[in-house]
Amino acid sequence: MIQAFVTQIYNKPLAAPKILRPLSNKLLEDVENLLASDEVGHKWSDKNYVSGYTSYGSVDKLHLVLPNFKKLEQTLEIHLKNYLSSLEYDIKASDLYLSHCWVNVMPEGAQHSAHIHPLSVISGTVYLQLPKGSSPIKFEDPRLGFFMNSPLPKESAKMANKRFLSLKPKEGDVVLFESWLRHEVPQNTTQEPRISVSFNYGWKKD
Ligand SMILES: [Fe+2]
Repeated sequence: MIQAFVTQIYNKPLAAPKILRPLSNKLLEDVENLLASDEVGHKWSDKNYVSGYTSYGSVDKLHLVLPNFKKLEQTLEIHLKNYLSSLEYDIKASDLYLSHCWVNVMPEGAQHSAHIHPLSVISGTVYLQLPKGSSPIKFEDPRLGFFMNSPLPKESAKMANKRFLSLKPKEGDVVLFESWLRHEVPQNTTQEPRISVSFNYGWKKD
């Protein structure tokens, strides 16, 4: 069987435990500080990220202002290279740059409806705190609007043939995807918040 037009999603541990743990702890401290001080972000979140907090509307270039996020940018480089290599894009990783990087805190009841990341090339998330049973990231088949009279796949169908992927990364994982791929985070039902860092890579300007 020929497989064509494959959608690839990257999911790996961000780093080895001895690098990951201290970095993750420092990033979580930064998240706590933002939660305590980012009034503009809280106001933006009240309107656009109901029941949760994100710095997307206030400080969306954290790698340019906080050293731990700069370190995260460096740690992501190898993953970006590996993903681009698998996608076989005819570009170099250095043709892209980290354009945005922000944090997301989703307490019980928070959700993030289906969206894409316009004007970016590659997007992704690093998972800092995933309480047991917290929401997955749910991707949808980009061909969904074209299926018309197509039957649904069987419940038992292999992942490649399904219409949705509910991915449950592990704490400390990085997930990368092409920015046009629509995804959502269903309502979080855990008492402890689900905490992540999201980011976009864009084309470098000459
Ligand atoms: Fe997203």
